[in-house]
Amino acid sequence: MEFERTCAALGAEVAGIDLTVPLSRKEQAVLAAGLVEHQVLFFRDQALQPQDHMRLAEYFGPARPHPAYPTVPGFPGITVLESDRENPSRIEKWHTDMTFLPNPPLGSILRARIVPDRGGDTLWMSLGAAYDALPKIWRDRLCGFAAEHSFAHGFRESLEAPGGEARLAEAVAANPPVRHPVICAHPVSGRRLLFVNSLFTKRILGVSPEESDQMLEFLFAHLERPEFQVRFSWRPDSVAFWDNRQTQHCPINDYWPARRRHERVTIEGGKPA
Ligand code: SIN
Repeated sequence: MEFERTCAALGAEVAGIDLTVPLSRKEQAVLAAGLVEHQVLFFRDQALQPQDHMRLAEYFGPARPHPAYPTVPGFPGITVLESDRENPSRIEKWHTDMTFLPNPPLGSILRARIVPDRGGDTLWMSLGAAYDALPKIWRDRLCGFAAEHSFAHGFRESLEAPGGEARLAEAVAANPPVRHPVICAHPVSGRRLLFVNSLFTKRILGVSPEESDQMLEFLFAHLERPEFQVRFSWRPDSVAFWDNRQTQHCPINDYWPARRRHERVTIEGGKPA
């Protein structure tokens, strides 16, 4: 298995592995280590069937279904992310998946099924690179702060849409707001990470609402600097596997009205600390 680094901050293309067949323990360990090192791994020409997709994810932990999206029939662990002329994508903000959970996911494995002729790339960013580049005054200031992350905040536009409240009532009730440290450490590498995202982070706790807004405005703008990013152009059967604990991602909605369909398995994680 070979890893070819894509960008300075994160990302590697992986060759010499077939994800459609069971992996040896050694291959699993090499992939796990590569994920921590490169933060997001890209694979080409992997015609994963749903059972292959599940098997691959389960090497790293149980699947964590998403409360707001449809799933592949017979595979409740595989979330379908599909958009077309009638249903344009609403995911267009930088985010770490499901930080509204007390234990946000370890990672996600996203597989391209239908790819538009043009556009529809995805960007990832490195939360470690963003932390490293913070001015020291901010690193010192943020230590010890926690932030509130909320499902209802992240899905506020869907909740405001006709029928949204009824459709998402159960998910809102099952996912009350949680708090996570603003600076946390990666559980394997120990690398320090800037752990707020503009989709689910509602406010920084322990300061006034105005101060929280100002701090988040600065931090979100800082996180989005291009030098912390990598961009991936999908082809059918491309796969991306990201370490959700140390990245954010953002799909680019530049392909409407074309159709795009991806399938994602998200893997259970642990409490950020
Ligand atoms: C996601 O947010 O997991 C979806 C990313 C994508 O569709 O490119």
